[in-house]
Amino acid sequence: MIKVLFVCLGNICRSPTAHGVLERKLAMAGLSDVVEVDSAGTAAWHVGKEPDLRSQQAARKRDYDLSHFRARQAIADDFSEFDYVLAMDDSNLENLKAIVPSGAIKTEPQLFLQTFSTPNLKAKGLTEVPDPYYGEKDGFEEVLDMVEEACDQLILDIRSKL
Ligand code: 4NP
Repeated sequence: MIKVLFVCLGNICRSPTAHGVLERKLAMAGLSDVVEVDSAGTAAWHVGKEPDLRSQQAARKRDYDLSHFRARQAIADDFSEFDYVLAMDDSNLENLKAIVPSGAIKTEPQLFLQTFSTPNLKAKGLTEVPDPYYGEKDGFEEVLDMVEEACDQLILDIRSKL
């Protein structure tokens, strides 16, 4: 199994969106049996909660179901459990680096949009998925647009490892 963990701050907007998008794209690619997906937050504020309703609604319009996800906090053991630990923004990445354990790990945390960029994302200078929590409704659509694009790149990388 190849294991992918998406990480944001609260685990109720961006990382569950990426979780739902990647799961469905993997199903469409026939890769559900070989890749496992999860998501987590660096903060514990929303542990046990379902994704933000605005994220769920925006995702549902594109046929992604996020309703069964429940927030959890990222932990040191995630770095020995997952093959990819993908942060949504620079501060998430810094927070993750602070909990990387000193022993053997499978992966260092990486910035999702930067590692799995595209010519379009590069042209727009996008390396982070911006936090939509306090912003306008458009922010949730933008999260989906960026995440969909980078997930396609991630799937290419996963395929190259199979
Ligand atoms: P997320 O968004 O990190 O994409 O889940 C946020 C969710 C909650 C908060 C901030 C960001 N908050 O401050 O509670």
